[in-house]
Amino acid sequence: MNKPIKQHLIDPEICIRCYTCEMSCPVGAIEHNDDNVVINADSCDLCMACIPVCPTGSIDEWRVVNKPYSLESQYEWEELPEQEDLGQDEAATGLEALDDAMAALLADAHKGAGGKAKAPASAAKPTINMYNLGHPATATVQGNFKLTDDPKHDVRHIILDMGSLPFPILEGQSVGVIPPGTDTEGKPHLPRLYSVSSPRDGERPNFNNISLTVKREDNGLCSNYVCNLEKGDSVQVTGPFGATFLMPSDPDARLLMICTGTGAAPMRSFTMRRQRTIGENSGGMTIFFGARSPESLPYFGPLSKVPPALLEQHLVYSRHGEKEYVQDRILAEYEKVSELLADPKTHIYICGLRGMEEGVDRAFSTIAESGGEQWAAMRDVMREDGRYHVETY
Ligand code: A2P
Repeated sequence: MNKPIKQHLIDPEICIRCYTCEMSCPVGAIEHNDDNVVINADSCDLCMACIPVCPTGSIDEWRVVNKPYSLESQYEWEELPEQEDLGQDEAATGLEALDDAMAALLADAHKGAGGKAKAPASAAKPTINMYNLGHPATATVQGNFKLTDDPKHDVRHIILDMGSLPFPILEGQSVGVIPPGTDTEGKPHLPRLYSVSSPRDGERPNFNNISLTVKREDNGLCSNYVCNLEKGDSVQVTGPFGATFLMPSDPDARLLMICTGTGAAPMRSFTMRRQRTIGENSGGMTIFFGARSPESLPYFGPLSKVPPALLEQHLVYSRHGEKEYVQDRILAEYEKVSELLADPKTHIYICGLRGMEEGVDRAFSTIAESGGEQWAAMRDVMREDGRYHVETY
């Protein structure tokens, strides 16, 4: 009989097909087809290099198996199989030592705010992976608007009309855009992921359209393509993706949103959803939003029209007046944040630059500790409850 092994797997329901794990695997054990991203058990050496780079935690899945799942079977999955019952003795055989080593590597990989994400308990069920590389949706550009006034910092609001195609999207989900052309090996480009910045009923209420918030990156293949799109152009779109960074339907839920730059996209969709539904009769929303200056803060104008009773705003600037990052303002708003952290109705959303994560985590630690709490433990409880969500890049 085969000795059981611990097999590293990816949850296809949560994976957003960003392929970052595939690009970071030092032994080439991760691959994808049009549907799924999969791990080859023969070549994976459990080095954990892919764990911290995964933005959703979908890569943090393990099964003890007598016979590893083949690549072919993983490609077929729409959901991850449950752990098979191998019998007590078999499952324990020879795995203890490996578990210790893995636990140490995993603990290291989980340092910082990363970890397995869970959707809010009251979130609507998302549709995922409806359109893929082999079968993308064709959208038509309805508009491309400049959001920033800074010539060196071009951020665009792009509206895509999905026409007669079904494209069910929830706030917080992402879509892929496939840039035209091929890479240096002659293969089609992989899609680049963008968070949707419009709510589920459309950028315009009850229109079948979505909006994206895209920053032009120097030499960015896809961002330049998207930022140069013109009204009437066709765009190949995949998705929707993302099953955890979703908003609670519970009207009493309190949303604490922290973002930088284009990380504001999902926060805009959350705000518009509440604006169009329960409005100010909700548990409330608070945003800490970091940008270089008012001129480079996406949606600065529209934000000024959102009433404080719906959204409490803390807009901070790093290159305008005294330099301030979101974590500095979180600390300055100690009382407000401390009260939010202690409330089981609070949901935290962090989106934007990866560098921000550590600073925000430290600010929460300081605030929690001065109230006699351990932030790491509080964060684990929140994550397990589906109340802590991070999407950084
Ligand atoms: P900086 O002036 O230091 O670049 P954008 O993507 O539009 O440039 O906005 C990102 C914002 O996030 C900028 O204000 C940027 O400031 C800020 N930022 C950069 N690094 C961090 C960090 N480690 N923590 C928090 N904010 C950061």
